[in-house]
Amino acid sequence: MTQLTETARALVADGKGILAADESTGSIRKRFDAVGVTSTEESRRDYRHMLVGTPGIGAHISGVILFDETLRQTAPDGTPLVRLIEQAGMIPGIKVDTGAKPLAPDPESGETVTEGLDGLRDRFQEYAALGARFAKWRAVYAIGHGKPSARSVHVNAHALARYAALAQEAGIVPIVEPEVLMDGAHDIDACFAATERVQHAVFTELVAQGVRPEGLLLKPNMVISGANAAAQADPDTVAERTLACLRRTVPAAVPGVVFLSGGQGDEQATINLDAINTRAQRDGAPWRLSFSYGRALQQAALRTWAGDNAKTEAARAAFLERARANQEAALGRLAA
Ligand code: 13P
Repeated sequence: MTQLTETARALVADGKGILAADESTGSIRKRFDAVGVTSTEESRRDYRHMLVGTPGIGAHISGVILFDETLRQTAPDGTPLVRLIEQAGMIPGIKVDTGAKPLAPDPESGETVTEGLDGLRDRFQEYAALGARFAKWRAVYAIGHGKPSARSVHVNAHALARYAALAQEAGIVPIVEPEVLMDGAHDIDACFAATERVQHAVFTELVAQGVRPEGLLLKPNMVISGANAAAQADPDTVAERTLACLRRTVPAAVPGVVFLSGGQGDEQATINLDAINTRAQRDGAPWRLSFSYGRALQQAALRTWAGDNAKTEAARAAFLERARANQEAALGRLAA
């Protein structure tokens, strides 16, 4: 087994999943604003230290995706946060894209292409030296009014595959994240159609560019009703549609699928993951099906902490509980 496959499998072992704590400076400012915290280098450090320093978290979380700044930060006692992650038995990861930018030549279309390829080979060398063993790149697609367009599907798939090839060359497992947004009033069939098209294009490009499926993880959206749709599909329908879509598009050689939460409530993200695994146990599925949640793992902890380091213990308890529940869901035994 190659090192890439070993790392990819470790990230989805035993129902464990990934903590996405890689919000860019702009995104974390929005999350902090919502709970009245000023975003500074120190408050961001304190918050991420609160999360990764949670005692016992390594029993539920296999890896942590970090933003560039965090990969270089240290705890108040001087220990690098990367070392704390490793000491807890977790694997450090790094977000390497530089964000979704308006798609030329129609910047008003509302579609985007994710950037960050320039200099990426050299950045991977540095990130590997700093301890990163896996990486993330997120492409984003909206549904509705002709979206996602064939152009956006193509250029984002191409960029995802170029990123993934460079990651594997550096010995780093690429998490390939094509996120079809849940914003809108569309039904679950529209989400299925868009997600199938996007994932099919992504795997076509991955194959064309020589990326090895054994050494990557897919991070997709679940196939789900639009957030504003009048009728909301129930968890078993979400599970059935999500698995049907993945079966059509994802090679069996891929070790794991780690879902994003994408704005689902934290309970909802856990219940849907449990439904997916319950169905997979019944119908069969070739990949591990776990989580790589940002908001759905952090929301309760962030609200509890709210900038007050005296609340660290209570915030850690809230985080630990979400991590534990999602591990149960990844094993399909939450409802059991
Ligand atoms: P959410 O789970 O909040 O969607 O975040 C996951 C992520 O990493 C988005 O890129």
